[in-house]
Amino acid sequence: MPKGAQRHLGCSVNLPPSSKLTPLQPTSADKCTLLLPGVEKPVHLDLLSGEDGSGFIDVRSLFDLTGFCIFDPGFGSTANCCSQITYIDGSKGVLQYRGFDIADLAQNCSYLEVCYLLTVGCLPTTRQLEEFEAAVWAAMELHHRLRSFYGCFEKGAHPMAVMIGAFGALAAFTRGSQFSSTESDRLSTAVNVVAKMPLLAAFAFRASRGLPLVEPKRRYGFVENFLRMTFKRPCENWKLDPRVLRVFEQMMILHADHEQNLSSCTVRIASSSISHPYACIAAGLASLWGPAHGGASEAVVTMLEEMRGVELIPALLQKVKQKNIRLAGFGHRIYRNFDPRAVILKESAQVVAELLGRADDRKLLETALRLERAVLADAFLMEKKLYPNVDFYTGLVLHTIGVPKEMYTVIFAVSRAVGWIAQFNEARSTVVKVGRPRQIYVGALNRSFVKMQDREEGEPLSVAALASGSDDWPRLF
Ligand code: SDX
Repeated sequence: MPKGAQRHLGCSVNLPPSSKLTPLQPTSADKCTLLLPGVEKPVHLDLLSGEDGSGFIDVRSLFDLTGFCIFDPGFGSTANCCSQITYIDGSKGVLQYRGFDIADLAQNCSYLEVCYLLTVGCLPTTRQLEEFEAAVWAAMELHHRLRSFYGCFEKGAHPMAVMIGAFGALAAFTRGSQFSSTESDRLSTAVNVVAKMPLLAAFAFRASRGLPLVEPKRRYGFVENFLRMTFKRPCENWKLDPRVLRVFEQMMILHADHEQNLSSCTVRIASSSISHPYACIAAGLASLWGPAHGGASEAVVTMLEEMRGVELIPALLQKVKQKNIRLAGFGHRIYRNFDPRAVILKESAQVVAELLGRADDRKLLETALRLERAVLADAFLMEKKLYPNVDFYTGLVLHTIGVPKEMYTVIFAVSRAVGWIAQFNEARSTVVKVGRPRQIYVGALNRSFVKMQDREEGEPLSVAALASGSDDWPRLF
């Protein structure tokens, strides 16, 4: 067993002993030299490289050595950590979880098997998976007071808003160490997150529709149990085509992790204050919600529905080129080629359209396929690398299965929860500096104070407009 590895759930995982936190270190092979104005001597900085040979300049000492910082809003050229969890080669469209290719995992694994891989670090044997599954099912319960939390939402509340509140509130119901300082703490937190996320999501949907809660039942299996808790009609027996179930499970596997995406990065930076794991995941949920990230699949279907067919494709692309709108489901910070997940989901969208076969769905899929073809044939848009991303066909799969739009991002969150907690645990098992970026200040400086009576009226700000928030407030005067 490699030095410092620990045995967990039966496999040796190369993790530092929890008593001695050590940073995951990249290899440093070479140096680069910086010549900066006002800095007398040349500055030599280490060049670091990852397993794939990608190169990074180690700028950790830059400010102390030179007084200079780097400016990189959106972190397009900045690594915030070393990680062993997920690898992406954006130029080749490669995605691997712990070194295993995403297509192999989607084809051959169950979602819980991939959860084991992401959280423990190796593929489980039959016995290890059974142990893991038993632990997840044992943790699939919520304190009865947290259940009453759902009762305070009005019908129509967006399930993502409910989820963010519920996951944060879960921290108030956890006993034991919130600091995840030992390996077993971190693994039991991972099991709890994987187990509780489907419950919280299902209950959020039921609350948003004013439906009674449906209790988990192990005989359905992890993924189908989530769908049944969420969508079972009160007076009907539950039935789901196993082929549709498999497409859904593969979609969850494809969404399980994606290295330092916005929501995982949010969870990591929140974890650097040694905050409660559930509170950090609530932060990840909040950042996932927006249409630039996990909310894109909802925006995709809205965009396709509003197009009402293929005739408007040329006009739509014209608007994109004039920068009036963005194409939901297209483009990616890392993939400068096909998103491998979109390739698999495109096929899944066609499978479920064949299986469930409603005419409107097939028309929407046809619109999507034609839109993709038009974008890929457009040199200007290809220059911007606007390939379809994971959300483009996810939206279509979920729409064709009949999932309500407001649940698309929630389902993304249920799938990604394991990635968030794997990233959180990795961050907490190594030495982490508190995340605190710098800024370039471009505001006013050293202004003299002005007494109230000497201040001039600026642009009149209609405070009345601000105060008129709830317009249904009874006017008493
Ligand atoms: C996810 O990071 C991850 O891993 C995320 C994710 C995961 O698994 O966690 O993969 C999940 O979030 C996928 C992305 C879902 N979002 C969308 O589909 C929303 C639409 N796409 C974009 O807004 C955009 O492509 C991003 C946010 C995904 C990526 O944006 P970047 O890398 O910051 O690129 P950019 O905004 O700097 O754009 C570069 C250029 C710009 O044009 P110029 O200023 O150079 O002229 O490309 C253009 C942009 O205007 N552009 C688009 C576009 N995306 C980029 N133009 C039109 N439509 C788009 N969708």
